[in-house]
Amino acid sequence: LSRGASVPDLAGTHVLVSAGGTREYLDPVRFLGNRSSGLQGYALARAAASRGAEVTLVAANVSLPDPAGVKVVRVETTAELRDAVVAAAPSADAVVMAAAPADFRPLGVSDAKIKKSDDGSSPTIELQQNPDILKEISQHRLRDGQVIVGFAAETGDSTGSVLELATAKLARKGCDLLVVNDVSGGAVFGSPDNEAVLLAADGERVDVPRGSKSSVAHAIWDQVSSRLSR
Ligand code: CTP
Ligand code: CA
Repeated sequence: LSRGASVPDLAGTHVLVSAGGTREYLDPVRFLGNRSSGLQGYALARAAASRGAEVTLVAANVSLPDPAGVKVVRVETTAELRDAVVAAAPSADAVVMAAAPADFRPLGVSDAKIKKSDDGSSPTIELQQNPDILKEISQHRLRDGQVIVGFAAETGDSTGSVLELATAKLARKGCDLLVVNDVSGGAVFGSPDNEAVLLAADGERVDVPRGSKSSVAHAIWDQVSSRLSR
């Protein structure tokens, strides 16, 4: 069961949470984006603050009010998100990457608005891969004993089930915990509820029942708290 908000088990710790979805600009007015609302990341930040942590929240394009007592750093692109996370991570006892960074960005950003041409032709947008922030901070640990948490929204496909794909992702990223959401059913984005399986690199597996994003947040902090070396 969750220890809940009344036990300050994170007092004396600094935690870093990322939330929201990044935008990758094509020109000054257009971007590629995704549907992440930031609700789960904000619930994580609020839950950590209520348990006594000092919280830094890196928010990518989230239209939610700043949680009380939380330091909010606003970013737009994956490159900005990476820089903000790498800047704050050396002083963080735990990092939770709840944000949805765009995997790709346009190869070039046009300084001027891209115009339609009269001949009916369409531009081709070439993409390049963005840096993998979770992998980078997991493989080059910026602080000893840091607990790093990733998220994975999976549907399962011909190459594996949701849990098989998530187990492989946990190993590939090198983080300590992976919060796995089965999104095969659709309709998770912007929903007030969530449910998840928490996979740990040490082999532990915790099923978090469907509930509010706050209850899922507390279940994640329970796992982080028990792994912090104190
Ligand atoms: N992540 C990250 N940097 C990226 C992409 C993802 O830090 N450029 C983080 C996310 O914040 C999340 C975790 O990695 O915590 C998993 O994201 P996901 O999109 O599931 O992983 P990918 O490696 O991008 O794999 P996929 O091809 O399934 O999208
Ligand atoms: Ca991705």
